[in-house]
Amino acid sequence: MPTTTIPVDRTDRWWEELPGGRNRLPARAHLNSDAPQLNLDGTWGFRYGQRADGTGLGEPGTIEVPGMWQLQGHGAPQYTNVIYPIPRQAPHVPDENPTGHYFRTVQAPAEWSNTVEAGGRIVLRFLGVDSAARIWIDGQDVGVTSGSRLTQEFDVTDALADGAEHLLEVRVVQWSVNTYLEDQDMWWTSGIFRSVDLLLRPAGGVEDLTTVADYDPATGAGTLTVTARDASGEEIPAQVQVPALGIDASSTDGPITVQQVAPWSAEGPTLYDATIATDSETVTLRIGFRRVEVDGEIFRINGERIVLRGVNRHEADPRVGRTQHFENMDRDVELMKLHNLNAVRTSHYPPHPRFLEVCDEAGLYVLVDGDFEAHGFHSDSTWGEDPSGRAERPADDPQFKDALVERTRRFIARDRNSTSVVIWSLGNEAATGQVTDAMFDAAEAADPTRPVIYEQDYRTDRSAMFSLMYSTHEESEQIGRRELSAEYREKLVHMLRGLGLDAPDGGFDDAPALTKPFFWIEFAHAMGNGAGSLKEYMDLVEQYPALHGGFIWEWIDHGIDTTDADGNPIWGYGGDFGERLHDANFVADGLVLPDRTPSPALEDAKHHYSPVRLEVSPGRAVVKSRYAFRDLSHLRAEVSVDGRVTWQELELHPVAPGEQTELTLPDAAEVTTVRLVTREADGPVPAGHELVTADHVDARALAARVPALSRQVAPEQLEDGSWQLGPAHFDDLARLTQLGWIEVEHAWADLYRAPVDNERARTRVPLEARWKQICLDVARRRLVEARADGDALVVRTHLGLDGNGLGADVTETWTSDGTAVDVQVEIAPSSRWPEDLPLPRLGWTIALDRQLTAVEYDGYGPHESYPDTGGGTTFGTWSATLEELQTRYVFPQENGNRAGTVRARLTDDAGGVEFAMPEGLGFAARPWSSAELDLRAHNGSLRADGRTWVTISAALHGVGSAACGPVPLPEYVLTARSATLRMRLTPVSA
Ligand code: GAL
Repeated sequence: MPTTTIPVDRTDRWWEELPGGRNRLPARAHLNSDAPQLNLDGTWGFRYGQRADGTGLGEPGTIEVPGMWQLQGHGAPQYTNVIYPIPRQAPHVPDENPTGHYFRTVQAPAEWSNTVEAGGRIVLRFLGVDSAARIWIDGQDVGVTSGSRLTQEFDVTDALADGAEHLLEVRVVQWSVNTYLEDQDMWWTSGIFRSVDLLLRPAGGVEDLTTVADYDPATGAGTLTVTARDASGEEIPAQVQVPALGIDASSTDGPITVQQVAPWSAEGPTLYDATIATDSETVTLRIGFRRVEVDGEIFRINGERIVLRGVNRHEADPRVGRTQHFENMDRDVELMKLHNLNAVRTSHYPPHPRFLEVCDEAGLYVLVDGDFEAHGFHSDSTWGEDPSGRAERPADDPQFKDALVERTRRFIARDRNSTSVVIWSLGNEAATGQVTDAMFDAAEAADPTRPVIYEQDYRTDRSAMFSLMYSTHEESEQIGRRELSAEYREKLVHMLRGLGLDAPDGGFDDAPALTKPFFWIEFAHAMGNGAGSLKEYMDLVEQYPALHGGFIWEWIDHGIDTTDADGNPIWGYGGDFGERLHDANFVADGLVLPDRTPSPALEDAKHHYSPVRLEVSPGRAVVKSRYAFRDLSHLRAEVSVDGRVTWQELELHPVAPGEQTELTLPDAAEVTTVRLVTREADGPVPAGHELVTADHVDARALAARVPALSRQVAPEQLEDGSWQLGPAHFDDLARLTQLGWIEVEHAWADLYRAPVDNERARTRVPLEARWKQICLDVARRRLVEARADGDALVVRTHLGLDGNGLGADVTETWTSDGTAVDVQVEIAPSSRWPEDLPLPRLGWTIALDRQLTAVEYDGYGPHESYPDTGGGTTFGTWSATLEELQTRYVFPQENGNRAGTVRARLTDDAGGVEFAMPEGLGFAARPWSSAELDLRAHNGSLRADGRTWVTISAALHGVGSAACGPVPLPEYVLTARSATLRMRLTPVSA
């Protein structure tokens, strides 16, 4: 087989053409049909080069289709968020252009010949090719694609009808005119990344199809309108059958009404199997009846106000990138349903079509973004000096109009039969102008049944709903109240100008935005540890009907499997592949880690997104339904008064959507935990699944678990100046060095934490730089005084910071009964501490000279909590390995704090240490220090040092979401203040 038959052509620059694409068949619906098809996925021939015209293609090898070539050993992935990785000279791209020349033989099955003779066609279909491809069969031109995440079809009948073997060649270029329209925040990777199929299209088949299944919430009636079309776009009659509803009618007889249907919603995704048939083809689909409406300032589905408890989902995988395996899509939807999410935005392009099928079936409201982002034209925060971008933005540039209007039609045509799709969005971050106006026209014409939105239409002149990203709580509240402060209006006008628009007279004042429903198209930026204060966002949604929730940014960390310089396996991010321009780990900001392990933020979301709100107080629990349609009969209420060991069912009276009820609880216990669990399996959610849990803890009773030590021994100073107090030994500088049989490396008051992503350099308030400027990360201890005071050893130290006079005075008071030691640590930060500089922590860290791998603690768990996160944690006795207590954030940072811990026992086979904190303090245990967390750039590079580092915190600064959102709310800011920690340390022998 030849590997290419294509002569080098230096004149035809097909990859820079506008409107782009050649010979493509018109857009149509993605359909499941009984017409034969042949899947062409698998191992293809491949030659890699650096020129789109084919000059200098390398030696032939092979490549997997679907896939991205940078993840198969050719070239390298590059990550940028906003900026283009090439000179911005649309529609042109550099001469050096990574190019993959794919080839394979292709043969139409012999049995297709009859259908072809009868007027049928053979169609070559690509579901996704990034960024542009030209196709040949036997060296004859077939066509050119346009739109990486859009289906592209070509008629190849003439080339393949003879049933013989032919050579199919696909030349894919990394950079093309499409690059300018596809500047989404993700890896720049290329290739045929979705399936390729050969379809046999029978004459008289269902070429295109529109089904509208309306539900009338007032009567319960369903109306099905079916329009089938042939290849010329003419409407044709087709037989519509929905056996479960007794429907058997011709599509051309008009809308079919059924008196009673079960509607579809995310809460009850009823689908009906349907067939639409002509003499030559039968299409099968699953139809859900539902009505989507924008009713004044309320967004309704089936007549009810809908709260979007959503997430933005990119297609990402640590091994295959944007290529999606069925398991990934199924797993994502399963995890979303298990964690109380009810909505997903397919940021920022149409997903693999299979994803929408899974959403239809499991019940998720979907907002589909068109494949359009041109952020690199209008962000001068990134490249400061060049103001040309805004004026040249494709959204207002007539040369892009046809391409973008066609993209809009194409993505809507593909998915308009998907029940789960409830909102269309033109795209993301591309500004506005005459072209987006035309896109609105095209979208509204393509589908009059769903709202069309576009976030950057800030004034909401055309958008059916008002949406913004990363609004603060305060701003959101103003939107909810429908009253914007002068300052906020000014900010919005400034945002309009940032897009290159002249703010109209009156600025934002006459904008229709506040007359329409509002949602956060992105919020709660989940980068690393965080986002904080999801609770407060969801409280606003409950308070203000116009606020409809939104979509957390984002679902998954896009880390890529690779190794660090020492060969350790890591999740790579921007800069790890030799890129000159990149945006570092901003690509790792999801609710699940790259391998799809839920991060604590997903558990937090599960709690605050719960469709039932649960509040427990002594003797009673309030159960408030946030469902729009369901009652609570599918849930069982249970109570535990022994810290989650045994559960007892509680009577739960029927609760209508939006209503609330009270549960009577047993008499006050130390800990009363209530949970709602599913009675039966429901889609991906199994029976017995905990939907929501909450507890009430009697802090005083818990504190009493740690009775006062009898002070039987007094401190003794030895000849070398060291001290002995019961099991504790202190060196001559009064530093704890021994606890029973365990050596202690160090124990000191700790004001620091490895900064979280929300505190690092690119954030709005880069605290890390300020903390490091004052050397808070390397505080130095100075002994002021150690003395015996009766039976107590009192150690006064000063924690100083290099180069300045800030720091803290620390007083430790140690007592012992001979077997355990109690210590009270008083920390007093300098009185001149800068008012606007929060402290990371007020705590105490001890390094035990053994790796104690088994941990059991009485505190809030099982996942980590910080002051503004930790939703879904309850008090209990939790066991974990030391390793399991770590959250493997892609970029190492503070993690793993367990709040309200009163007891923690860390052991290995020989024994260990037990900590008791009567007041319930933060507890974190790690196999490495905060300094190690602070030093490394990848989770996989962290090295355990053979010790166990335990940090007890009296207070922590909130985590917020300042990487791309607000700083912690005032109540979660740790301002410099004094704190006292009380702990008991008991050495334990096996
Ligand atoms: C938004 C953008 C997203 C993502 C996010 C930051 O501005 O729409 O694509 O870049 O910021 O993670």
